[in-house]
Amino acid sequence: MTTPIERLEALRAQSARGGGDDRIAQQHAKGKLTARERIDLLVDEGSFVELDAFVAARASEHVSDEAQVLGDGVVTGFGRIDGRLVYVFSQDFTVFGGSLAEAHAAKIVKVMDQALRNGAPIIGLNDSGGARIQEGVVSLGGYADIFLRNVLASGVIPQLSAIMGPCAGGAVYSPAITDFVAMVRDTSYMFVTGPNVVKAVTHEDVTLDELGGAETHARRSGVAHFVADDEVRCAALLRELFGYLPSNNVDPAPRLATEDPIDRMDRELDAIVPESAAKPYDMKDVIRRVVDDAKLLEVHAEWAQNIVVGFARLDGQSIGIVAQQPMILAGVLDIDASIKAARFVRFCDAFNIPLVTFVDVPGFLPGTAQEHGGIIRNGAKLLYAYAEATVPKLTVITRKAYGGAYDVMSSKHIRGDYNVAWPGAEIAVMGAEGAVNILYKDELATAKDPEKRRAELATQYAEKYANPYVAAARGYLDDIIEPHETRPRLAAALRALAGKRDANPKKKHGNIPL
Ligand code: HXC
Repeated sequence: MTTPIERLEALRAQSARGGGDDRIAQQHAKGKLTARERIDLLVDEGSFVELDAFVAARASEHVSDEAQVLGDGVVTGFGRIDGRLVYVFSQDFTVFGGSLAEAHAAKIVKVMDQALRNGAPIIGLNDSGGARIQEGVVSLGGYADIFLRNVLASGVIPQLSAIMGPCAGGAVYSPAITDFVAMVRDTSYMFVTGPNVVKAVTHEDVTLDELGGAETHARRSGVAHFVADDEVRCAALLRELFGYLPSNNVDPAPRLATEDPIDRMDRELDAIVPESAAKPYDMKDVIRRVVDDAKLLEVHAEWAQNIVVGFARLDGQSIGIVAQQPMILAGVLDIDASIKAARFVRFCDAFNIPLVTFVDVPGFLPGTAQEHGGIIRNGAKLLYAYAEATVPKLTVITRKAYGGAYDVMSSKHIRGDYNVAWPGAEIAVMGAEGAVNILYKDELATAKDPEKRRAELATQYAEKYANPYVAAARGYLDDIIEPHETRPRLAAALRALAGKRDANPKKKHGNIPL
């Protein structure tokens, strides 16, 4: 006769074995870790407290009472990352392919509810064959229960998703609603319909990876915010990201003491922008020279690279960086760049992370592809996001700020708190060449030497309009600063804005042009 303690130990061990040694070996052979190994990598050592280890798969034709499957293909609980509370669920592919059924869904729902109630982030580690086929509509209901909680928790607690195996069908919509999605190269994929269905419907031949691998979603679709080379790096990335985020929309993000002095000046910045307005420079270099310890965690690093977004710290405080990248498409705003930055701005605003924007923008990208693709509707997203944001907003115009893009990029008019420009900045409706061609069309048509005259007029125009002083004279800029002073100026402004209180009119919610 077994003692109560022996029985407990036996059941606990059974639950921890998941789908058994053979399936665990298969999982490892695929280069994947088990659900529990992943949690161990993610949370502080020894901090994980498992919940619902004894929840059994609902008995049905495929699960007999005798063959009790404890845990039902998902490990749930809470732990700590750098000492801070986090709720976690980790799907166990060794049990029914990690497929989602009634008990499995109920366990996820329980930790989501607890995370929301306790104001702690939730991290989902996804590795699942989707809805458990044998449980039919009950599985679909389980998904919907999760989707609802994803939506209700949005903007209240950070929600992070890692895709560590298959994530297919409607199951993709839970990670899609969460704030950040990380994928693991070669072993994860996401799609609504798989290659076989694609073949049947559209006659296209496409591999799993091409259709929904990490590379595809990081570069083409923008579904994945991060790609990691393997699961160990993925867990490290999630921990790093977590460090920039507050636990909820009320608590502040953790401050990290830095040895990097806030009054540090960087003379290299004075020469970083090339004299010719057409020549590129690396905006990430500018960012790294300004923020604490040259550290930038880029989000969507491989998608819409003409804009850079990511987390950094200034004076120890988490900040969200948005910046044009002159090295890619001259930093132009296009559909993808607008969507990428808009979502990031809204995340930062929801979680009270101040925004620091570096502007060097020639305008919106012209062309039928952009117009027909809805640059109007999509560009409006970024304008909306910045205008709506009430967090501290600091803006540095490093070179060009032309046209509507000037307004959009955290300008004074849409409640920028501290707006400055470097001395060589050009703030105008358009660049000198374009302006001269329009304003002096008739004169140039009859000029003896049109090229020479065009150059003269362009110089006159640039002196009169394409400089930062017209904007500064109106107070649209708070100051014109030398590039090397950027860090101390921004740090001082950020300190001044520490107690900022601003609010939007009371409403149910706005109607961002989706
Ligand atoms: C029940 C499942 C399952 C599922 C996998 N398994 N998916 N059991 N329901 N959805 C089981 C398998 O039977 C197998 O059991 C074990 O998990 C491992 O699966 P394998 O096929 O051996 O693994 P692998 O070769 O790696 O292939 C993984 C896979 C494949 C690509 C995910 O299993 C697959 O295509 N599964 C079906 C995927 C699917 O169509 N799901 C429904 C999507 S629609 P044994 O006992 O042999 O180990 C959906 C709708 C969501 O999810 C709607 C939300 C609104």
